[in-house]
Amino acid sequence: MNTPTHVPVLVQEVLRGLDAGVPGVYIDGTLGTGGHAAALLEAHPRSSLIGLEVDELSLERALTRLAAFEGRVSLYQSDYRNLPDLDIPWPDVRGVVLDLGLSSFQLDAPERGFSFNSEGPLDMRFDLRNKTTAHKILHKHSEARLAQIFREFGELRQARLLARRVISARKGDGLQTTTQLRRLVEEVCRWRPQKGKVHPAAKVFQALRIEVNNELDGLDGFLERVLRLLAPRARMAVITFHSLEDRIVKRTFLRLAGGEEKSLVRILTKKPVTPSADERAANSRSHSAKLRIAEKI
Ligand SMILES: C[S@@+](CC[C@H](N)C(=O)[O-])C[C@H]1O[C@@H](n2cnc3c(N)ncnc32)[C@H](O)[C@@H]1O
Repeated sequence: MNTPTHVPVLVQEVLRGLDAGVPGVYIDGTLGTGGHAAALLEAHPRSSLIGLEVDELSLERALTRLAAFEGRVSLYQSDYRNLPDLDIPWPDVRGVVLDLGLSSFQLDAPERGFSFNSEGPLDMRFDLRNKTTAHKILHKHSEARLAQIFREFGELRQARLLARRVISARKGDGLQTTTQLRRLVEEVCRWRPQKGKVHPAAKVFQALRIEVNNELDGLDGFLERVLRLLAPRARMAVITFHSLEDRIVKRTFLRLAGGEEKSLVRILTKKPVTPSADERAANSRSHSAKLRIAEKI
């Protein structure tokens, strides 16, 4: 495997946002290769970190990267959504960070199948123990279900037509790789590169990735359940990369803040924080990032 590095986004904003001025335990629910975790541990020398990551390959990388912080880090291969139920001792947690989606480490590895820019299998699993791959979804789901996935998770206008073409393509063996899928999408959408226009395969790959990894389910429940682990005034910082996820975070924070009986959190970001022009110029993958922060009351 090649070894691209992942550049963490909005690092200073996360550090500032989470800093309640009190040392304690921080949780990184989407550890990746450990970029935000390392920054947090460096910025808070008297704090420790619990890190969760479903992808064993990313976790291995994070283990190496965070070796310098031995004694202050506990890492688990786990879905962040299982965090509140993990059987581990819970000291006062001062902050939680989620940096959702996928990392460059995963995107740039052709064998993971996340990128339409390189030839690879139709995999797209974060958790390699997961039995569902993009190939399975494309070859087993009904036309109606495929159309729904392309429409709801990819916001693709040609969702029904693409679903129909997938059903024909899968009858032979014409839909085995990322580039075969890309070509099919380009044909269906009559793709002509145009400045400022998103490639339709980006939408389709996003949609399949969301479905394979069941990315949207349980995010709202997590934000609510994790509150009981947090010390008063502890903070939750969530970075999202598309509007479907951002909407869930925004609505969940609003619900928790505006509870009919009792407010459980205070929202610290009326509008989401976005990367500076400098960060956007330096890291093209930061473009769509949005950070929202809430504080437990
Ligand atoms: C954007 S990357 C995080 C990068 C990390 N902040 C860093 O600086 O290296 C998102 C990571 O979350 C992981 N992930 C996605 N869904 C997850 C889940 N439900 N539970 C735990 N980890 C998840 C992915 O495997 C990926 O490594």
